[in-house]
Amino acid sequence: MENPRTFHVKSFGCQMNVYDGERMAELLQAQGLSAAPAGSEADLVVLNTCHIREKAAEKVYSDIGRLRREDGTRPMIAVAGCVAQAEGAEISRRAPSVDIVVGPQAYHRLPELVARAREGGRALDTDMPVQSKFGVLPPRRRQGTSAFLTVQEGCDKFCTYCVVPYTRGAEVSRPWAAVVEEARALVDGGAREITLLGQNVNAWEGEDETGAVRGLDGLIRTLDALPGLERIRYTTSHPNDMREGLIRAHGEVGKLMPYLHLPVQSGSSRILKAMNRSHTAESYLDVLARVREVRPDIAISGDFIVGFPGETEADFEDTLKMVAAVNYAQAYSFKYSPRPGTPAADMEDQVPPDVMDERLQRLQALLAEQSLAFNRATIGKRTQVLIERSGRKPGQMLGKSPWLQSVHVETDAAIGSVIEVDIVSAGPNSLGGTIAAAPPTAVAA
Ligand code: 5AD
Ligand code: SF4
Repeated sequence: MENPRTFHVKSFGCQMNVYDGERMAELLQAQGLSAAPAGSEADLVVLNTCHIREKAAEKVYSDIGRLRREDGTRPMIAVAGCVAQAEGAEISRRAPSVDIVVGPQAYHRLPELVARAREGGRALDTDMPVQSKFGVLPPRRRQGTSAFLTVQEGCDKFCTYCVVPYTRGAEVSRPWAAVVEEARALVDGGAREITLLGQNVNAWEGEDETGAVRGLDGLIRTLDALPGLERIRYTTSHPNDMREGLIRAHGEVGKLMPYLHLPVQSGSSRILKAMNRSHTAESYLDVLARVREVRPDIAISGDFIVGFPGETEADFEDTLKMVAAVNYAQAYSFKYSPRPGTPAADMEDQVPPDVMDERLQRLQALLAEQSLAFNRATIGKRTQVLIERSGRKPGQMLGKSPWLQSVHVETDAAIGSVIEVDIVSAGPNSLGGTIAAAPPTAVAA
């Protein structure tokens, strides 16, 4: 096979995959390859895959088939991410055109794997090496206004439905200095917002310069002092790791945005127990009450699974009650998908697909109502919008509110600036605003 000169990385699934995709791209660029705008034009295509649900995992096989060009040739194909980790050599058996299989903890070795594949061999690396990939990857390059920064990976919680502990490995926190340095590099490269990422990001822990052990709140407070950085977010969190310091940070840290993604999965404590979530519906509501006490305007977002094995109509109604009690600004809901190797896949009382469909529809209808109401409640408010890119219409820019809503506004404000906007309209997915009139000249009191 020819030496690839161009590459294209396509990431599926969560934000951590988007981050990994960026780092793979930076690595390949450091090797002298250049980015192609589409897979069809690239010599090397990296499919950075997701294994969380069956549908996501199966998608990779149809994508591989689509990479064949009209003249019958194909690019060099690498399957990265969580499907690579979970299915390993099985991928090359099912899809012989795959040249490289590389797991989420081994992608710093991509250049060696490309070299091996060029010599005609199949290259597989799904190790979880002791030496972290982060120590080897090239420094961050310029990213957009809003940047991701993975600070924590893996999960030790072993919820009974979830593949993450198997595909991403044990919980590991990146060291304090590495994270602060990367945040600085991102801000120097133009980032105005940083979203700290981890499968259990609020379990992050590290020693600061003085040797003191700090939690995620300590990191957030340090980033708050970074000149040029305007906004800090973090995702995804586990309810049991919402420690007091982090909750307090929501009331005290100016740059920490009023948004919390806190998955609950079910409103039935019986199902939560079967899921091995190690929290109850009540303890989850309790955490949210404490967060809302310090930050009353916080937007709450969540994840839900309907149709977990054994879920009865009464359990599901508890989920609807939980949703009614919380009032979500945003939420993601899924039908339970049995994953190979997870305990729940072997449980009795799997819920029939039509029951799952019906429950998902009811849940999504309620969640959609809530998020529309949340968006509508911002009409008439003046708020700060971080401009991220130009909109579809000429003269229009697209930005984000503090509550992570997309806002369209006619303005000539530059990308990366934070402007005051009056919200005038709201739909299910975005808000419309106008530039706020200059505030009246302050009169000395
Ligand atoms: N089936 C359906 N949804 C799942 N999730 C994780 N595993 C499964 C599964 N087996 C959902 C959870 C999690 C989100 C990232 O994906 O809601 O929070
Ligand atoms: Fe999966 Fe549960 Fe860990 Fe989240 S906390 S990654 S759902 S095992």
